[in-house]
Amino acid sequence: MSDLTGLFNPKSVAIIGASKSPGKIGNVIVKNMINCGYNGKILPVNPRESEIEGLQCYPSVDKIPEPAEMAVLSVPAVKSLEIAEVCGKQGLKYLVVITAGFKETGKEGLELERKLLEICRKYNMRMLGPNCVGLMDTHAPINASFAAGFPLQGEIAFISQSGAMVLSILDWSYKVGLGFSKFISLGNKADLTEADFIADASEDSNTKVILCYIEDVENGPHFLDVARRASRKKPVIILKSGTSQAGAQAASSHTGALAGSDLAYETAFQQSGVIRARNMPELFDLAVAFANQPVPQGDRVAVITNSGGPGIVATDNIEDKNLKMARFTKETVESLRNYLPAESNIYNPVDVLGDAKADRFHFALQTVLADPGVDSAVVLVCPAAVTEPVETARAMAQLKNEFPDKPLFAAMMGGARLEEGARILSESHIPCFTFPEPAITSISGMVSYSRIKNLPAKTNPLSFGDIDLKTVKATFYDVKKDNRLVLLGSEAAEVISAYGIPAAPTVLALNPDQAVAHADRLGYPVVLKIASPKILHKTDVGGVKVGLDSREKISSGFMEIMDNVHRYLPHVAVYGVEVQKMMPRGVEIIIGMTRDIQFGPLLAFGLGGIYVNLLKDVSFRLVNGLTESEINSMIAETKAYTLLRGYRGEKPADIDAVLKIMGRVARLAADFPEINEIDINPVFAYNQGASALDVKITIS
Ligand code: COA
Repeated sequence: MSDLTGLFNPKSVAIIGASKSPGKIGNVIVKNMINCGYNGKILPVNPRESEIEGLQCYPSVDKIPEPAEMAVLSVPAVKSLEIAEVCGKQGLKYLVVITAGFKETGKEGLELERKLLEICRKYNMRMLGPNCVGLMDTHAPINASFAAGFPLQGEIAFISQSGAMVLSILDWSYKVGLGFSKFISLGNKADLTEADFIADASEDSNTKVILCYIEDVENGPHFLDVARRASRKKPVIILKSGTSQAGAQAASSHTGALAGSDLAYETAFQQSGVIRARNMPELFDLAVAFANQPVPQGDRVAVITNSGGPGIVATDNIEDKNLKMARFTKETVESLRNYLPAESNIYNPVDVLGDAKADRFHFALQTVLADPGVDSAVVLVCPAAVTEPVETARAMAQLKNEFPDKPLFAAMMGGARLEEGARILSESHIPCFTFPEPAITSISGMVSYSRIKNLPAKTNPLSFGDIDLKTVKATFYDVKKDNRLVLLGSEAAEVISAYGIPAAPTVLALNPDQAVAHADRLGYPVVLKIASPKILHKTDVGGVKVGLDSREKISSGFMEIMDNVHRYLPHVAVYGVEVQKMMPRGVEIIIGMTRDIQFGPLLAFGLGGIYVNLLKDVSFRLVNGLTESEINSMIAETKAYTLLRGYRGEKPADIDAVLKIMGRVARLAADFPEINEIDINPVFAYNQGASALDVKITIS
C-alpha cells in the first residue's frame, strides 16, 4: 500500500462548495461522485442548503457528525484558508483543491498558496492542487473532479500537470475505447507532485502503464529516485513540454553552452528509465502498446506486407529507430518459399503480394512469429481489390493468442475499406494505425523499456578514498574572499589535483623572475598563460606562449603577454602569468560539468580542443545516480572514443585513466554544490595515463 491509497479510497468525502445549481462546479462534483458508483459517504457542504442531489447537506465541515476523511474544495480562493483550517482541526487527511486563483495568478496568489500549504503541513493533511480538475480512479471507484464524465475502466494511469489535457484526453478516450485506472490533475503541485503519483501508481495493482504530461518537475533528485524505482516495475512514459531552466543560465563554459535547455530533462529521463514521448499521439500510442502487448524480448522486427513500398518505408523506419530487421532461420525461409507464390519476397520484409488473401497473411505471420529470431511483428495491409481486411484482422487476432509473448502491430493503410478490419484489430488489442511509423515508434519504446526493466534500481555513488576536501575548501574560501566567482588556472589545477585528477603542474608568477624560478623547478619547456578570471579565451588576446625552453624566452614571454593583454583589454584585472609544464600531446578530449537548477550536476565528455562547440561531439549524464558503466557508455557514444581506441594505427589511449578523471570530476561536483561549472579542456589522454591541461572552475 502506498501513502496515497487513502486519497483514492477515502471512507467519506466532504464536497465544500457543493451547489444545487446545475452547471456549477460544486454541483458537477457531487453528481460525479454519485454517478461513478463511489461507495463511501458523500457529504455536501454549503451553509445555505439542507439537501443537494438527494444527499443531506451540512453548513460546514465541523457540523458533520463523523468527520470526513477527504474534502474537495470548490469555493473561491479567498475562503480556502479559513476552510482548510477547519478541515485540519477536524482531522481530515486529504484536500483536493479545485479552486483557481493561487500561484498561477502572481505574487498575491503565491502567498495565498504558501499559507494554504502551511495549514496542510500543520495538520498533516496531504493536498492535491490547488487549481486542478481533481482525481478519478475507475477501480476504487471515485470521481472527485469536475470532468464531464468518468473514464472507461482500464490499466493506464494518466497524471497531468494540465487540467485541460485531462478533460480532452478523457473525452477522446471514449471515442477510441481506451480505458484508464486513474486520472490525476496535478494543478499547481503545492504539496503532492508528479513523483508522489508516479510512486503511488507504481504500487497500484490495477495500473499497468504510467503516463504523465508535465511542464516541469518539482524536485529533481526526488523525481529521479522515484522514477528509477517505478520504471523497474512498470513503464513510465512522459511527455514533457517547455524547456528547462538550465538554458536560461548564461553559460560561461563550453560544457554549459553545449548542454542546452532541454538536456537535463532528456538525461534525467534516460538515466531513470523513463520513456520520453515526443508528442501527444506518441504518448498514447505507447500507452496502448504497453497496455495491450507483451514487452518484446529484443529488437528484431519482422514485417509482413502485401505491397513493396510500405515494406521499404517500414524497413527505413526500423533502422531509424535503432531496431533491427529480423533475419529469418533457414526453416522459416524454406516454409515461406514453399507456401508463397514464387514472386513473393520471402526475406524480411515478407511481401505476400498484392493479390494476397487472408490465408497468405496468416501463413506468413504464423511462420515468422514462430521464428526464434523474431521478437515482434508488424503487418501492413494495403487495400487491393482482392484483399480481405476483416479475415486478415481475424487471423491476426488468432495469432496474437497463439504467440502471447510476441508483440504484434498493424497498419491498415487506407480508409473506409479497411475500417472494419481496423476495428476488429483494436477490439483484439492489436494496436492498429493508418501508417507503419507509429507502430515502429511504439515497438522502439517497448524495446527501450525491455532494457530498462533489467537495470538495477539502486545505484551506488562513486567513491574514492584519496580525496583532499580541505584544500578545495580552503581554495574556495580564498576565491570568495577575493570577491571572485572564477578560479585562476593555478587554483583550479590545485582543486582538481586535490581530487586525484592528474593536472599539468601550474604555478602563478607575479613577475618575470618568479616565472623563471618556477620554470627551473618544473623543468623546461614551459607554457605561459595570462592569469585573469575575466579572460576566458586567452589565446585571442595574445595571452599564451608555448614551448618556452630558456630563461630568456620566459622573461621576454612574460613581458610580451602583459603588453598584449594591456593593449587588448586595458581595464581588465590581471593577477600575473601562470607557468605550466609543457606536456606532450595526447588525444584531446573535454571533460566538464554544468549544474542544472532542477537536477544538479551534469557531467560532460567529448572531443576536446578549440573546436568543441563546432564539433558538438559530447555526451552527458547526470551525476545523480551515475555509475561506472554509465561513464563507460558516455565515452563509447562519442566519436572521441574512436580516437581513444587508436585511429589509423595509432596506439590506443588509456581509457581507464579518462574514466577515472570523469568519476572524480563527478564526485567533486557532488561534494561542492557551490561549483557552477567545470571545464577541463583539453585533457590529453596518453597511451598510459592522462593529464588535465586547461581547467576552468566557476563557483556561485
Ligand atoms: N462552505 C461551503 N460552501 C460555501 C461556503 C463555505 N464556507 N461559502 C460559500 N459556499 C458556497 C456558495 O454559496 C456556493 O453555493 P451556491 O451555488 O449554492 O451559491 C458554492 O459554495 C460555490 O461558491 P461560489 O461563490 O458560488 O463560487 P463559484 O462556484 O462561482 O466558484 C470555484 C468557485 C472554485 C469554482 C472558482 O472559484 C474557481 O476557482 N473556478 C476555476 C476552477 C478551475 O478552473 N480550476 C482549475 C482547473 S485546471
